[in-house]
Amino acid sequence: MDALGTLSRTHNCNELGTDQLDQEVVLMGWVLRRRDHGGVIFIDLRDRWGITQIVFNPEINPEEHKKAHQLRSEWVLAIRGRVEARPGDMANPKLKTGAIEVLVNELRILNTSETPPFPLDEDTEISDNLRLQYRYMDLRRPEMADKLIMRHKATMAVRNFLNENNFLEIETPVLTRSTPEGARDYLVPSRVNAGRFYALPQSPQLFKQMLMMSGMDRYFQIVRCFRDEDLRADRQPEFTQIDMELSFVHEEEIISITEGMIKNLFTATRGIELAPPFKRMTYDESMRRFGTDRPDTRFGLELIDLTEDLRGCGFKVFNSIIEKGGVVKAINAKGCANFSRKDLDNLTEYAGRFGARGMAWIKIKEDEWQSPITKFFNADEIAAMGKTLDARPGDLILFGADNLNIVQQVLAELRLELARRLQLVDKNVFNFIWVTDFPLLEYDHEQKRHTAVHHPFTAPHEDQVELLETDPGKVKSRAYDLVLNGNEIGGGSIRIHRKDMQEKVFAALGIDREEAEEKFGFLLRALELGAPPHGGIAFGVDRLMMILTGSDSIRDVIAFPKTQKATCPLTEAPAPVSRKQLTELSLRPDWKEK
Ligand code: AMO
Ligand code: AMP
Repeated sequence: MDALGTLSRTHNCNELGTDQLDQEVVLMGWVLRRRDHGGVIFIDLRDRWGITQIVFNPEINPEEHKKAHQLRSEWVLAIRGRVEARPGDMANPKLKTGAIEVLVNELRILNTSETPPFPLDEDTEISDNLRLQYRYMDLRRPEMADKLIMRHKATMAVRNFLNENNFLEIETPVLTRSTPEGARDYLVPSRVNAGRFYALPQSPQLFKQMLMMSGMDRYFQIVRCFRDEDLRADRQPEFTQIDMELSFVHEEEIISITEGMIKNLFTATRGIELAPPFKRMTYDESMRRFGTDRPDTRFGLELIDLTEDLRGCGFKVFNSIIEKGGVVKAINAKGCANFSRKDLDNLTEYAGRFGARGMAWIKIKEDEWQSPITKFFNADEIAAMGKTLDARPGDLILFGADNLNIVQQVLAELRLELARRLQLVDKNVFNFIWVTDFPLLEYDHEQKRHTAVHHPFTAPHEDQVELLETDPGKVKSRAYDLVLNGNEIGGGSIRIHRKDMQEKVFAALGIDREEAEEKFGFLLRALELGAPPHGGIAFGVDRLMMILTGSDSIRDVIAFPKTQKATCPLTEAPAPVSRKQLTELSLRPDWKEK
């Protein structure tokens, strides 16, 4: 006889209530808690849906009650019993099934469990590594299960929406060639082609363009991407995109379709009704006001430029930076003039982590500007700064002075840190903003050449194409990012669909004909064979779900994520392989870094 015997499940652990009183039911699940109340044993039985209290009464069923004595956390049970109302004062309003309990007539122990590596029923701090090593235990916790369930609802909503809008879901290869998305590739050695490697896709970018060239018109895929990059709370080496591409479209159509998709997703997962169109901001404006291309617009604390007010000022540190072409910008932290010396030292240390060489500050008091640096400024400079900053008594001004990049980076981070300290961020507010008109190229000082800000297939603004040869840094692209609460959740662009244009952009990137032919010959060929105008976008599912579930890390919304060091504590990947396997792959087993 198999473990279940004649029992088959009639209900889940979250659906019984007073409507089922006196019914006989069969439940199956795990022991969450066991309480022994002077003879009567209470068990909280848990499954994916929720919790039901089951009761073993020695007077009613002594045999099953005796068996119940041995039950421990995480044992797996099947029970048959009768639904009873809990005595009035025992009802648990926090539990959906809190009005009833099930009096057990038959208990089957389907499996036992060792003592769990960590308790599943409490808010105890558990180390991340332990959680990942026993991920299947971690996922039994309702708050973790809820995240995966919400993720499922999100991807289902996306599939339904895109299907209704005539998108085709088409799979693309995982063993492929490198796609330049800016990260390092994961490589897979080929056994049958010694010395050659596949790259795992950083995104299906070129395949989805090829699908447009195949006439597919509207493509999507919920697809795994692989990037070997330094990991952070919002980055994983393998992550999932909602990847889309459309033919014969402008930015506007892509933006409006994806707004509909995101609106749909929010309704399906959180019941939140968003009201697109979302706001838009150019890259230049975003950098100027927020110091970053992914602005969190839930609060103010914007960057204010004081460079012109302070040109030629008596404070040598600032003046010499301005003379060398640098800038002075500041944040006016309204009402923060009461920050202590220690607060300021902490903030200075924080700014230092992002490259600040110092962090001058001024406290605006009723009768004076309190600061070690006030004495270096004359009355005109104070007046000019006061006006630009809209400085009022009670304000705290924090300065960043350096080259533009560093100042933007430092103040952008300082701004977020201030918002956290002042508790200005509301997790229940969802501020979407499209950032548009990115530069096409940026100069890489290490490689001493321009690189693509998005990827090399992004179209430049038509009217700026001549600048590609004369002043490439000035050319703006037809790329757009969707930013949610300071996180880049999606990005895309209108693509280049003509060969001459693609060659021009390759040239501006310092990719010569030979290299272009070698790496992207297949793309250039396709561009010569009737490629339609097209564009697309990809959304980071993990990041989106992190925000939707209020999680601090994208690991929480991925069933089996990797650690900061790109390892999987559950399977212990990456793992060593045998000498034989290496030899078969024409890799030298004795290879050591010199
Ligand atoms: P992009 O590189 O901007 O664009 O990626 C799109 C979105 O994917 C998410 N994302 C990540 N999420 C988790 N971990 C990572 N390591 C990670 N890297 C990126 C982000 C990002 O906005 N092919 C282009 C899209 C296009 O042009 O259509 C692309 O991949 O949320
Ligand atoms: P110093 O004259 O170096 O003691 O600096 C005077 C004040 O200016 C200190 O509060 C420093 O933190 C600040 N400071 C120095 N360099 C910078 C900078 N690059 N940006 C902002 N503040 C700075």
